[in-house]
This record gives sequence, structure tokens and C-alpha cells, in this order.
Amino acid sequence: MVIIAPSLLSANFAHLSREISSLTQAGADWLHLDVMDGHYVPNMTFGPMMIKQLRQESDLFFDVHLMVDNPDQMIPWYIEAGADLITIHPETCPHLDKTLQTIHSYGKKAGIALNPSTTENVLEYILDKVDLVLIMTVNPGFGGQKFLSSQLPKISKVKDLIGKRSILIEVDGGINSDTAKSCREAGADVLVAGSFIFNNGNYVANIQSLR
Ligand code: DX5
Ligand code: ZN
Repeated sequence: MVIIAPSLLSANFAHLSREISSLTQAGADWLHLDVMDGHYVPNMTFGPMMIKQLRQESDLFFDVHLMVDNPDQMIPWYIEAGADLITIHPETCPHLDKTLQTIHSYGKKAGIALNPSTTENVLEYILDKVDLVLIMTVNPGFGGQKFLSSQLPKISKVKDLIGKRSILIEVDGGINSDTAKSCREAGADVLVAGSFIFNNGNYVANIQSLR
């Protein structure tokens, strides 16, 4: 069963509460929340205060993608705000094993995000501490970029590394009904989509066509 995680990055930020209820009614499984700090990635979005308020509006699973330079400092803020899963980029965590343990110590799920240029080898010694591997299919920072098909073999490689463990593979960036199909065939379980779901306003049909 595929999990559809619309990215709030492409929503109308002036009407987030309304956007989230429309996504929920349209059948979204998770809500993907892209936190960008303007340092690690050249764009800024929102922080824990906003997520905390959205938490009051929604029972969806909150999938928080931290694109920040200092996740170790910020993880407790996002736990407190109501994240169900926190995904971090290994380049930003000097003590990655410890960071994953910290997320689990709060009873939350932990994800690792691999940039297009990041090798899956980084997973070798930490896989048993990971609940999800996020394979970036664009360079992080902006919605609406073109899907990088160079990442498809990485999905299959990560699937092999995971073996029988119950770890989800998520893809993020340039996902539409065509690229979703290729990612599913390669082994992806969770599809993040921003512009494809939001662009024409037909959330029901768009979510359906990703399944
Ligand atoms: C990019 C973000 C994505 C983004 C995807 O850095 O991590 O979640 O919202 O947007 P689309 O689906 O438009 O490529
Ligand atoms: Zn994301």
C-alpha cells in the first residue's frame, strides 16, 4: 500500500487550515512539512510555532523534513510541536547515530534524507536505527523542480540494503503520476508531492492518480 504525503510547501500559506482539511478529505495519508532555514538550503519556510498550531487542526501523520544546519538543536522543538516523524540530512549531523537515538528517545520515528549526490553507503552502520529513508529526487530547497531519474537506481539499492527490515522508502521532488510509477516500481513506499497535487486545485483526482 502506497502512502501519499502532500507537501505543504505548495499550499496557499494564507489558508493553511483550509488546505489541510481539503487534503484530508481528498485522501492524503500523511502531511509532509518542509522546514527550511535559508542556510542549509537557499529558501525559508516555517518553524515549530506554525507546526504546533497546525497540529491543533489535524490528526494526519506529521512527516517533518528538516532542511536545516543545526537539527540537533531543533529536534526537541519539532517534537514538542507535534511531529510524528523527523527526517534529517546526514550532512548536518556530526553524530548521526546519536541524533537518531535522540529522536527515538522521544518515542518518535526517525528518517534519513539522501540528497541526489549523497551515497546510500551512509546508511550502512545506522540502518537499524532508521524508520524511513527519504530519497531526494531533486536538490532540496524548492518545489516544482524536474525529477532526477539518476535517483531511480538508488531506490533499488536502498531497498536491497533494507532487506526484511520494516523501513519505509520515501521519495521527494518532481513526483507526478509518471515519476510516481517509476519510483513505485523501484521500491518506494511513500510519495511526497507538492506542485503536482496543488497546481490545478483538483486534490482528489491528483492524489488518486498517484496511487
Ligand atoms: C524540496 C522539498 C519537497 C518539495 C517537493 O526541497 O523537500 O518536499 O515540496 O515539491 P515538488 O513535488 O513540487 O517537487
Ligand atoms: Zn521534503
